[in-house]
Amino acid sequence: MEPIRVAILGFGTVGKGVYAHIKEEQQSLEQTLNRPVQVTAVLVNDESKHRDVANHVLLTTNMDDVLAQQIDIVVEAITGVESAYQYVTAAIEQGCHVVTANKAMYAARGQKLQELAEERRINVKYDASVAGGIPIIDTLNQIHQLESVHRIEAILNGTSNYILTAVAKEGLTFHEALTQATRLGYAEADPSHDIDGFDALNKAYILANLLRKDYQEITVNRRKGLDQLQLDEVLNKQTNQVLKPLVTIDATSESAIEIVVEPTWVEENHPLSSVDGVQNAIVISSDRLGSLKLEGAGAGEKPTAHAIVQDIVKTVKEDNRILV
Ligand code: NDP
Ligand code: HSE
Repeated sequence: MEPIRVAILGFGTVGKGVYAHIKEEQQSLEQTLNRPVQVTAVLVNDESKHRDVANHVLLTTNMDDVLAQQIDIVVEAITGVESAYQYVTAAIEQGCHVVTANKAMYAARGQKLQELAEERRINVKYDASVAGGIPIIDTLNQIHQLESVHRIEAILNGTSNYILTAVAKEGLTFHEALTQATRLGYAEADPSHDIDGFDALNKAYILANLLRKDYQEITVNRRKGLDQLQLDEVLNKQTNQVLKPLVTIDATSESAIEIVVEPTWVEENHPLSSVDGVQNAIVISSDRLGSLKLEGAGAGEKPTAHAIVQDIVKTVKEDNRILV
């Protein structure tokens, strides 16, 4: 039986994780989809690095070579916006579905990509781009289809939460904690994006866009990161409060959805106060639901790869051309 052909763009923490997950779960994927899933090509930046991939996998630095492989689904797991956007656009134009983990790219260009994809009946899925393994995109979409979500409070950057927890509870310095977060594969290739709050802002923007009505703008009222904190405070403050890298998305105004990204002291009984380490959590508030809290691993190889493989499975199930 013909395999479902997958290309992985980027072979760092996330790309390698997806490759390993598909390999380890070959049998269950085939049972679920009635066809095997095969990684056919891997795109990287640096040809000289050793890559642990099977001989049948095309390893290349050229996106044209990838697309020449009759790919069904392109998994985009590289860093930065421009190259990623060009690769993904080329993939859509060639009729490939896309699954991306790249929140910087999706926050900046997601809407354009969806328009391009819609014209061609292509899926662009992006659950891995927000909150690692937490299945937030479909969940929020489903809730919001039936009733308005007023507010989201969340921890969306695993690295920042890991650093604050390690500094407060384990007595690590900021730099020791950041070094560990990088070693564990949580931090961005440029970790300043984690600690300046822009990574959380990109994720907040992606969620806000799901709630947005056509006439509403998305406004950023504040964006602060750990770099603007006096971390001594975290260690020395004698209080029942806990400092958390909070994101608030307020959708109550008719004209705008308002985002605030800011380390914030929360009371011990706050639903996000006990969310520690690399965990992310999202509290969604609406009239009928009251408040729903989702919590899980917010970064790292395995949870992110899990989210991507889930999106691959959904993509195949939604496309009759692939699911034969
Ligand atoms: P890494 O830095 O570990 O890996 C990035 C990979 O992308 C490398 O293999 C690199 O190639 C490749 N790459 C970068 N630029 C290009 C380019 N222009 N063309 C081809 N290949 C390129 O990053 P991560 O795996 O951690 O993250 C990948 C993406 O996933 C990012 O967008 C990140 O924000 C997102 N993400 C990361 C999570 C995590 O926990 N780490 C979680 C959720 C999303 P080479 O190996 O040759 O240098
Ligand atoms: N660097 C990101 C974080 C990866 O720490 O949350 C997951 O998006």
